[in-house]
Amino acid sequence: MILILLGAPGCGKGTISKLFQERLNFCHISTGEIIRKTIALNNEFGEMLRQIITKGELVSDEIVLKLLCEKLNECGSDIILDGFPRTLFQAKKLDEIAKIDKVIYIDTPYDVIKERLAGRRICQNCGKVYNVNLHSMNSCDCGGKLIQREDDLPHVIEERFKIYEEETFPLIEFYSNQDKLIKVKSSSSSNDTFNEILSFLEIKWWLLQKKKWIAWEFQAR
Ligand code: AP5
Ligand code: MG
Repeated sequence: MILILLGAPGCGKGTISKLFQERLNFCHISTGEIIRKTIALNNEFGEMLRQIITKGELVSDEIVLKLLCEKLNECGSDIILDGFPRTLFQAKKLDEIAKIDKVIYIDTPYDVIKERLAGRRICQNCGKVYNVNLHSMNSCDCGGKLIQREDDLPHVIEERFKIYEEETFPLIEFYSNQDKLIKVKSSSSSNDTFNEILSFLEIKWWLLQKKKWIAWEFQAR
């Protein structure tokens, strides 16, 4: 099953994707994470990417598609795409290389987004995501230092949101026309949002097919 998580910056794409990865063994592909790991290599290419994302702009379709295809080759058949596609061009290209089953649009008001992004901290070591509004921790479980993402500054958040509305929002209609869109409201608990998504996906049927249901029930207790 190949799923896409669609929604504004800070709507919870990364958080929900991690739940799919941990609980259902999906391969999680976040183009944002791939870009941040490339930046951490501290080479010329990474510096070029850093200049783009710290302005809140999009990396070119050509570069992102190349990074995506490299990662797709490492994944099995169950994949969750987080932050890709982000333009109509990327969505059309993706249709040429993969069969998308469902697209989950996480609808989140702008004031909630601003609060979440202002409070987000990530581990400098392993990348795990926290929020100062939810967790009172100074360091990660792994001992790594918690830092703010360079693109989580207020003026960059505004630019990212503007670009989201211009470039990415039209994908909702694109996938709705393909009859693949599932719309959920971002709730105050990521677990509730995750469970709502599962109910739309008829996941029990899918797990039964994969003979994973018994393990899932056991884990959910
Ligand atoms: P990317 O990393 O994908 O950023 P984004 O889309 O802006 O989304 P975020 O990662 O900021 O938010 P999220 O939805 O994952 O929310 P999260 O779960 O962390 O991309 C970064 C940049 O890379 C882009 O700006 C662009 O430059 C470039 N890029 C990436 N992909 C590209 C592409 N395809 N094409 C071109 N350029 C590309 O949650 C946010 C916070 O809220 C966290 O602190 C979390 O703990 C908290 N939270 C989550 N859910 C809840 C909840 N239910 N209740 C309360 N708090 C919650
Ligand atoms: Mg993310």
